[in-house]
Amino acid sequence: MLSYGQRIPVKTRAEVEKMREAGRQVGEILLELRALVRPGLTTEQLDRHARKAIAERGVTSSFLGYGPHGLPAYPAVLCVSVNDEIVHGIPGGRTLEEGDIVSLDFGVSVDGWHGDSAVTTRVGELDAERQHLVDVTHESLDRAIEELRPGRRLSDIGHAVQSFVEPEGFSVVRDFAGHGIGSEMHEAPWIPNYGARGRGPRLKAGMVFAIEPMVNVGVPDVEILDDEWTAVTADGLPSAHFEHTVLVTDDAPEVLTRVAGSH
Ligand code: MF3
Ligand code: CO
Repeated sequence: MLSYGQRIPVKTRAEVEKMREAGRQVGEILLELRALVRPGLTTEQLDRHARKAIAERGVTSSFLGYGPHGLPAYPAVLCVSVNDEIVHGIPGGRTLEEGDIVSLDFGVSVDGWHGDSAVTTRVGELDAERQHLVDVTHESLDRAIEELRPGRRLSDIGHAVQSFVEPEGFSVVRDFAGHGIGSEMHEAPWIPNYGARGRGPRLKAGMVFAIEPMVNVGVPDVEILDDEWTAVTADGLPSAHFEHTVLVTDDAPEVLTRVAGSH
C-alpha cells in the first residue's frame, strides 16, 4: 500500500522526456475518445477505439492486465464510469444516453514510463446539477495542480480540492486517491483529495504526480460491484472524476497529459 512514509522518486531529465511523450499520447487519445461520446454509443466501442489508437501509435496500455492486491486483472485499456459510477467502470454493452455524465480514464506507457489522465464529459445536454458537478470537479483539479510547486507540502493538494468542493455542496471520495507515477503507474505517494494543509513531505522539482479528484453529489461512500472493479456511489447519486499527470518544476507545474483542447 502506498503511504506518506515512502520516498517520492525524483525523475531525471531523460525520464521526464519519456513521461512527456507518454503524457502527450494519453492527452491526444483522450481527446479522440471524448469527441466520440454521443447517445447510442456503447462503452465497449470507446474501448475498441482506444485499443486501435494504442496499436497505431505503438504505445503500451497501462491498464490492460493490471491487477493490484489480488484483484482480477483489469480486462480493458479504458475505464468508462457513467453517472453513479465513480471510477474503474469496465467497458461493456451499456449504451450511453442523453443526459449521462461519463468519466473516461486512460493510461499508456512509452519505454516503460507512464501517463494517466481522466476527463468527465457529457452525453448531450445535462441537468443543472450534473453540469455544476462536472464544472466543480474540473476546477478542483486545476486548483490542486496549482499547488504542485517546490516547497509546498503534500497535503496542500488534497486541501485545495476539499476546501473548494465542500462549500459547493458536494463531497470528496476518500476510498481512492491520486498517486505518484513514473516507471510504475502507481508509485509513492498516495495523494488523498482531502485533509489539512501543511502536512507530509515537501514537493521538489522532478516529482511527477497523477492528481485525480473524485467528487459526489451526495454521500462520499463507495460500493464495489460484483465485477470487483466498478466503484459506485452508495446512494446512487452522480459522481465526476478528472485526472492529469503533472511534473513539478522550478516554476509553473507542467501538465504532461494536457494537449491543446483538452481539460
Ligand atoms: N487512473 C486510474 C487509477 O489511477 C485507473 C487505473 S485502474 C486500471 O487508479 F486498472 F484500470 F488500471
Ligand atoms: Co490514476
